[in-house]
Amino acid sequence: MQKSIDVSDWPTNFDFAQDEICQHTFKPFIESELKLLEEYDAQRPKDTNYIFHKHAPRVAEDVRDTCAHLGLAPHICENMYWALLPHDIGKRKLPLYLWDMKDKPTDDIRQLRRSHTDIGAEMVEKKFTDIDHPFKDLLIAIIHHHHEQMDGNGYLGLTGDQLSMPVRLAAIVESFDGYRVWRPHFGDRDISVEGVLKRMRNEKGASHYDMDLFEAFASMKLAQKSPSPKKSQPLRISPDQRRQDP
Ligand SMILES: [Fe+2]
Ligand SMILES: [Fe+2]
Repeated sequence: MQKSIDVSDWPTNFDFAQDEICQHTFKPFIESELKLLEEYDAQRPKDTNYIFHKHAPRVAEDVRDTCAHLGLAPHICENMYWALLPHDIGKRKLPLYLWDMKDKPTDDIRQLRRSHTDIGAEMVEKKFTDIDHPFKDLLIAIIHHHHEQMDGNGYLGLTGDQLSMPVRLAAIVESFDGYRVWRPHFGDRDISVEGVLKRMRNEKGASHYDMDLFEAFASMKLAQKSPSPKKSQPLRISPDQRRQDP
């Protein structure tokens, strides 16, 4: 039996598809940034597997599907989709040589790569200095914190109590997608959906992830693979949350 999820800090109070600022300000920014990320990817070696502008929509779609699986309202799912699309935009500001190495990256290289979260958050802050909007806050939180861990051993050392539900979900889906794309240092690691979920559950677990959200995500992913029409039964959520409109 799946348990109910605390949905208190999901983005309930606006609707990206209807909101003027989202449609006329944030959406063009996100689309333009993804285009620039695509141009950045085009300069990388042709045999690169982990292509940033393709990773972005996969993560955004999986987050949207997990939110739907949790029984969250459609506008919340959509808000989350748009907030995830630009989560790695900071990467394009870093030198190309950092990304496509045959060997396991050194600590210095890893440190430089990690700065994409600071850079991305700063890009949004600078671009939208004069705008006060809940989507901006969501966007910055996700861009800045999507590599944090529940135990505080992520990029910035934030702990679970400092991470919102959207950020916790972003961290899960983001790392799942990363583990699904084979890279040279993976060797013969199992990168099937089941293999990656098993690795995340057994080797990372509660020290890395919010396990309630992880299990919701895992059940959504496995349901996607199942031919059964019963595949996407939403989790139970409280009646209050079902009534939350923008
Ligand atoms: Fe990232
Ligand atoms: Fe990512």
